[in-house]
Parts: sequence; structure tokens; C-alpha cells
Amino acid sequence: MITGASRGIGAATARRAADHGYQVALLARSTDALSGLVRELGEHIAMALPCDVTDYDSLTEAVSRVEEHYGRLDAVLANAGASAPSSFLGTDDSDPTQWRDVVLTNVYGAAITARAALPALVRSEGHLVLTGSNAGRGIRPGNLYGATKWAVTGMAQNIRAECVGTGVRVTLVQPGMVETDMTANRTEVPKLHPDDIANGILYALGQPPTVDVNEITIRPTGQAPHS
Ligand SMILES: NC(=O)c1ccc[n+]([C@@H]2O[C@H](COP(=O)([O-])OP(=O)(O)OC[C@H]3O[C@@H](n4cnc5c(N)ncnc54)[C@H](OP(=O)(O)O)[C@@H]3O)[C@@H](O)[C@H]2O)c1
Repeated sequence: MITGASRGIGAATARRAADHGYQVALLARSTDALSGLVRELGEHIAMALPCDVTDYDSLTEAVSRVEEHYGRLDAVLANAGASAPSSFLGTDDSDPTQWRDVVLTNVYGAAITARAALPALVRSEGHLVLTGSNAGRGIRPGNLYGATKWAVTGMAQNIRAECVGTGVRVTLVQPGMVETDMTANRTEVPKLHPDDIANGILYALGQPPTVDVNEITIRPTGQAPHS
């Protein structure tokens, strides 16, 4: 089950997971994009579950439908994310009312995705993967998005600590700059392809049940340390 599956890293991971033999449940708000991906992958491989990750009832309903349809839930990628300009000094004319969506999607959305999915993952001794960011490891001047990803870094560690003894594995993936809609305005820097992140996620999922890949950081060659 993948949140943020309508495009970018989530859609790339859905395609790569299907290549590896997974059946995938695709969550996002853009129903047309999800339907297109289901058509591409095939209805025997993929199902679309339109959902806003800030709505807990929709997430619990999605988890129930996955368990009903596929029999169990093996792995979840909590990946939906949002970004917005955020100078705290106001030097970029950013609109602080957009910040609410960034915090709710990246922090609350990831938290309630984990909460909705973990009982099913305990049943399957499954795997939770969270998409953090390279921006959740270092200082970025005036960057609220980066602060939300610091929260995801901590959340992954705290979830893993709570899951000790359950058989559930928890992986935090921290991408550097990736070519997606989110970085369309960053033309001056090297970027990864979304498949590069999907490959890292499938590596973690493909390890034996006794191996919990805690963190994966992937950056494009030549990305500056603090960008
Ligand atoms: N691109 C990068 O350089 C980069 C680097 C580090 C980390 N990341 C992280 O990677 C993840 C994926 O981002 P991306 O680069 O692939 O960006 P993207 O192409 O903009 O995709 C974002 C995805 O999140 C979904 N989404 C956003 N808000 C949502 C909500 N409230 N409910 C459900 N789905 C929602 C979007 O779908 P809908 O709009 O259809 O709902 C879309 O599928 C994010 O967590 C992002 O922070 C990206």
C-alpha cells in the first residue's frame, strides 16, 4: 500500500513493486492519475483507493479494503508529501496559510498512515517504510518542509522502538533531490530519477525478515551537502 502513489516517487515505487511481484494499493487524491496507473499495471496487480492522508477514517477504510481484497497487507510506504516556500523572516513573500497543509500532510498524514496500517502489519509481520528526506538530516535556513522531515526522522525511530517484539520492520528512506513535480523549480541542481528511490525501497523490502534496514539515504552524485 503506497500513499502519494499518483505521481513521482510513489508511482515509481508502485511500478517497481509490481515488477517484483507485489500487488499494489494506490492511495492519493488524484483519482484520474490513480486510475491511469491501475490501467497501466493491470487490475489484477493494482487497485486505486482515492484518499486524503489527513483523513484517518479514509486511511482505516483503505487498510480494510486491502486486507479484504488481497488477504493481507505486507508493506506500506507512507510517502505522500507536500512542500511550500517558508521563509520565517518573510523574505520570500511566502504565504504562511499554505504551511498548514505541509505540516498536516508530512507529519500528521505520515503518523496516521502508520497508526491505521500497523495493526495489519503486526498481523502479517510486515514492513513500514516512511519517506523522509535529506532535508530531515541537516539545517536548511527558513525551511519548514525540512522541519517536517525531521519529524518523520524521529517518527520512524519511535515507531521502530514501539514495534520491538512484533516482527514489524521500519525503514526510513531519505531522498536527496529527485526529479518530480515537487522540485520542478529547482533546475540548477543534480537530481535523481524517482526510480532510483524506488530501487532503494525495493532493496529494503527484499531483505530477509530477520534484517531490518533502518535508514537509507540516497542523493544524486554531486549534490551539495546542505542543499
Ligand atoms: N522530490 C524530491 O526531491 C524529494 C526529496 C526528498 C523527499 N521527498 C519526499 O518524497 C515524497 C514524494 O514526493 P515526490 O517528490 O514524489 O512529489 P510529488 O510528485 O509532488 O508527489 C507527491 C505525492 O503526494 C500525494 N499527496 C500530497 N498530499 C496528499 C494528501 N493530503 N493526501 C494524499 N496524497 C497526497 C500527491 O498526490 P495527490 O496530489 O494526487 O493527492 C502525490 O502523489 C514526499 O514525502 C516528499 O516530501 C521528495
